[in-house]
Amino acid sequence: MSYECILSEVKDGVGIITLNRPKAMNALNSTLCREVGEAVDGFEVDDSVGCILITGGDQVFAAGADIKEMKDQTFADLYAKNFPYIQRDCWRAIDEARKPVIAAVAGFALGGGCEMTMACDFIIAADSAKFGQPEIGIGTMPGAGGTQRLTKAVGKAKAMEMCLSGRMMGAEEAERAGLVSRIVPAEELAEQSFKTARKIASMSRPALTLIKECVDMAVGSSLDDGLRFERRAFEATFAFEDCSEGMNAFAEKRKPEFKNR
Ligand code: CAA
Repeated sequence: MSYECILSEVKDGVGIITLNRPKAMNALNSTLCREVGEAVDGFEVDDSVGCILITGGDQVFAAGADIKEMKDQTFADLYAKNFPYIQRDCWRAIDEARKPVIAAVAGFALGGGCEMTMACDFIIAADSAKFGQPEIGIGTMPGAGGTQRLTKAVGKAKAMEMCLSGRMMGAEEAERAGLVSRIVPAEELAEQSFKTARKIASMSRPALTLIKECVDMAVGSSLDDGLRFERRAFEATFAFEDCSEGMNAFAEKRKPEFKNR
């Protein structure tokens, strides 16, 4: 499938999406967002894909919503279409993905770009990564999860300061604050993030999906509810052939051959 604003390929079980508007710092225009949504949806139903990786390449992840495309919209336009309508396909697809989605971030991940990384299951950052919600600088505010997901990820103090002042967070601060899972040298971002995605893609898919559900549950539920949900999910894995295969393989000192059922 060929796209205008992204590149997409499948390699060793990994569906890779590369945002590709280098002249506009990968700003999220409506075409790019629609294409990301289509690509994620496509990988979801592609049995050869076990994990999805979204990256902006080795220079920049994305400098936010395309301000030039957005600037003449009125409140009535946005409200009627339930903003961020230009990005809706993209958020819906990432939010609803049952396969793991990793963001690999180098350079700026700002505004909607930062929000896109936080919609993914986890973020691997290059040492050049810079995260921020600078919308206040153009007289607006985050509208696709910035005030919500950032606060849940890094806590009120940092989220409040970043959203109110537009201050960016470098990779080290982002790792300390729990926004990113780990930092790698910029020149190794593509290789390291792909290796991680390929490893995840080789695991039992139904077990991966249950783990995703459980970790997501921890974000919005009480500990008691989360623990009960996790116990049932753990027990449910014993209904999978992959669970029996995994445990037998361990006992027989061989590599498991997961069938994803
Ligand atoms: N929208 C449209 N174009 C953008 C853009 C954006 N968000 N960010 C950068 N660009 C374009 C610039 O206009 C410029 O294009 P031209 O060469 O045609 O002029 C090109 O990308 C390079 O940008 P700069 O010359 O500005 O590069 P820089 O290195 O000096 O600065 C930057 C980089 C700090 C990221 C700066 O471009 C910037 O501040 N960008 C805007 C960041 C921002 O405010 N993002 C939030 C958008 S609103 C939002 O995201 C809301 C939401 O989703 C709900």
